[in-house]
Amino acid sequence: MRSLLFVLSLICFCSQSVLSWKKEEFRSCEQTPFCKRARSRTPGACSLIVGDVSITDGDLVAKLLPKTPDQSDGDQIKPLILSLSVYTDGIVRLRIDEDHSLNPPKKRFRVPDVVVSEFDEKKIWLQKVATETISGDISPSSVVYVSDGYEAVVRHEPFEVFVREKSGDRRRVVSLNSHGLFDFEQLGKKTDGDNWEEKFRTHTDSRPSGPQSISFDVSFYDSSFLYGIPEHATSFALKPTKGPGVEESEPYRLFNLDVFEYDHESPFGLYGSIPFMVSHGKSGKTSGFFWLNAAEMQIDVLANGWDAESGITLPASQSRIDTLWMSEAGIVDTFFFVGPEPKDVVKQYASVTGTSAMPQLFATGYHQCRWNYKDEEDVAQVDSKFDEHDIPYDVLWLDIEHTDGKRYFTWDNVLFPHPEEMQNKLAAKGRRMVTIVDPHIKRDDSYFLHKEATQMGYYVKDSSGKDFDGWCWPGSSSYIDMLSPEIREWWGGRFSYKNYVGSTPSLYIWNDMNEPSVFNGPEVTMPRDALHVGGVEHREVHNAYGYYFHMATSDGLVMREEGKDRPFVLSRAIFPGTQRYGAIWTGDNTAEWEHLRVSIPMVLTLGLTGITFSGADIGGFFGNPEPELLVRWYQVGAYYPFFRGHAHHDTKRREPWLFGERNTELMRDAIHTRYTLLPYFYTLFREANVTGVPVLRPLWMEFPQDEATFSNDEAFMVGNGLLVQGVYTKGTTHASVYLPGKESWYDLRNGKTYVGGKTHKMDAPEESIPAFQRAGTIIPRKDRFRRSSSQMDNDPYTLVVALNGTREAEGELYIDDGKSFEFKRGSYIHRRFVFSNGILTSTNLASPQASLSSECLIDRIILLGHASGPKSALVEPSNQKAEVEMGPLRMGGLAASSGTKVLTIRKPGVRVDQDWTVKIL
Ligand code: NOJ
Repeated sequence: MRSLLFVLSLICFCSQSVLSWKKEEFRSCEQTPFCKRARSRTPGACSLIVGDVSITDGDLVAKLLPKTPDQSDGDQIKPLILSLSVYTDGIVRLRIDEDHSLNPPKKRFRVPDVVVSEFDEKKIWLQKVATETISGDISPSSVVYVSDGYEAVVRHEPFEVFVREKSGDRRRVVSLNSHGLFDFEQLGKKTDGDNWEEKFRTHTDSRPSGPQSISFDVSFYDSSFLYGIPEHATSFALKPTKGPGVEESEPYRLFNLDVFEYDHESPFGLYGSIPFMVSHGKSGKTSGFFWLNAAEMQIDVLANGWDAESGITLPASQSRIDTLWMSEAGIVDTFFFVGPEPKDVVKQYASVTGTSAMPQLFATGYHQCRWNYKDEEDVAQVDSKFDEHDIPYDVLWLDIEHTDGKRYFTWDNVLFPHPEEMQNKLAAKGRRMVTIVDPHIKRDDSYFLHKEATQMGYYVKDSSGKDFDGWCWPGSSSYIDMLSPEIREWWGGRFSYKNYVGSTPSLYIWNDMNEPSVFNGPEVTMPRDALHVGGVEHREVHNAYGYYFHMATSDGLVMREEGKDRPFVLSRAIFPGTQRYGAIWTGDNTAEWEHLRVSIPMVLTLGLTGITFSGADIGGFFGNPEPELLVRWYQVGAYYPFFRGHAHHDTKRREPWLFGERNTELMRDAIHTRYTLLPYFYTLFREANVTGVPVLRPLWMEFPQDEATFSNDEAFMVGNGLLVQGVYTKGTTHASVYLPGKESWYDLRNGKTYVGGKTHKMDAPEESIPAFQRAGTIIPRKDRFRRSSSQMDNDPYTLVVALNGTREAEGELYIDDGKSFEFKRGSYIHRRFVFSNGILTSTNLASPQASLSSECLIDRIILLGHASGPKSALVEPSNQKAEVEMGPLRMGGLAASSGTKVLTIRKPGVRVDQDWTVKIL
């Protein structure tokens, strides 16, 4: 009976189309004992002080000791070991763990495989520690060098760690434990009286190691706003979660969960967790704080005045935002980033966790997905309709129904009898296919993968040591233990062409449900007391499970082509480092205007915290978008770094040609706009790959001093050159757009000029959303319409030169083969274009070893903001003349809406890989 009820409720779970978020299925902080305990602590409660400071192996090492040792009580806190390391470029790493020489009952989990190996090379070996007595303290603090401008201070009593500027009035940047909220629950031995179990709804967590949570406060100085800590559906600037004036008092939760029909405004946890927060303030300065920890975390942003009763003298008079960080397990492994520029902070974070992988070019085009394209005929039809309607796309996706009974790596042989032929047909047009592979493996003794995983002992175990058995799409399922490198390697091998029968080189992978989603588990996930290799409890590694799964799949795709082909794997769950393995999307959103709106802060937050290759399901996964919403979603989504339409199986079909000719035209135009801009996007992906600076950026990343941009999450920058303002409400015909900075902006559609530093009320006709090129930039485009990105390979380029007040502009173009790793061996082109004194110059930006050549030409040079008059241009070194004309600006398929005429140099005949100049005569 119970199982019948369960199956019935599951059927409801899977097939409901218009249901809303079930809050009661998820724990609130109040129902989460460690969160409740940490939140109820009062400022100043920390009773630890620092002692035994030394320099050991280039680190400052010390002990955290109880302030008043209690001789009578054997249970008193044992010393903790603190180590502080300094790295180049203004990074401080602070670790605190139990003292292993005192034989704690077990080793707390330290997250491996996230910090990149090159990070160690950046370590500055500390030689000495200075002392300084901070006024009012009874004992001196230890001070160490961080960089020319900064130093780190370990305050002994009260215990506090902070980074400050070295000169001037030595302003603080970031601090930990300034409010004395630090608490570290030490592992203990269970005694008869202890009941460590925790219950939530029908689930009991045995908690074999008892309480082991950690919490502390972190303060950001000179801070106006905080950002980061995805994944939440909420505004870009984080709102206070506790303190005066805060009504719904839930912390931001970081716990990877499969949340059905999530709310568009909530601090509750979604599919991924990146415990990295960024602060930005009026001074234009940015700083960051990152806690590498894979257990459940909850973070409070404290409203001004939250500590009014504490009686604590606050450490500085600067503007400051305080936060409280709480985690269920693990160790303190934290990083302070000093900035001071916004881009410095993202680079500092990237130097710890890695930059985003360079995607294949095809992956930056448009993806068409649906749960499900039914069979081979459906696939062929959809594919040919794109051609019929002259809409480019690159990838067709198959969801879970393509398999034989949700057994991944198989095909339903009635619906998909010829998978190779199907893929090859797409590949002939330069298109790819993606199939889904989830981490839950059907417990079916005749399924080869289950047999092998069982025999090899590769599944996660339940608390009693048996293979964990949970419910997911295939029914009873077990989950591969991705924490083990050996198992990950085995998993990677499943993607070889031999093992994945029916796969071809044009097939790539989608990893879904990897939080992991367990329909009958507590909060729809795996029980916290499940066991991974080495006796690691699931609670300790939960937030990283999906990351390891993504890693193993991505490495598998690299292996299948012996390291020659860049992988493409989309993941739903995320963790720091995910950016190295592929793209992610924001999960099961809904076809509502508010979900379109929140997609921008979500994608901006992901980019700010390392994961640049992200996007939301175009149109909304659940529900049926009205045509206007769908069109606007395509117009906004054309700028998401990851651009994919997707829908739930209960929704009506919504391919772009199904809503009448006019809407098809509008969606086609939005997709064309993306394809036109692919050279620019690809150049930005390269920038992200080298530096960590995201493709989509908040306005303040480009205009750090402009306060009007700090909480603007309706507009965004694509690179440093484009500003896009989304349209998020029905029936909009006008939009207010704030254009920052002192320079002007050129309307992308018609070249019209708008002054910077001002809000403009402008038309937002159905044809397009407002988008502008920033004066002073040069943007490369490819303007010919093709069926897919690979068909554009040999097409000529257009350069759009947007002149600033001094009639200058500059930009870049990056090109490689779009698919292999040869770019790492110098096979790429990287050009810099500068326009100055009436001359456009192309110079090499690539390293001297770079070797790629290309016969592609630059076909047109459009000069925005140039007066009419010139009749020709002189091209050097060829010493040829090129024609110059004045005409309307064209972008995408729809004609310019108004008649600003722009100067165009036609067919200058210059190659994209060479040095040249073009002089306006
Ligand atoms: C959940 C995913 O979020 C969704 O995109 C997918 O279509 C379904 N799982 C079925 O695989």
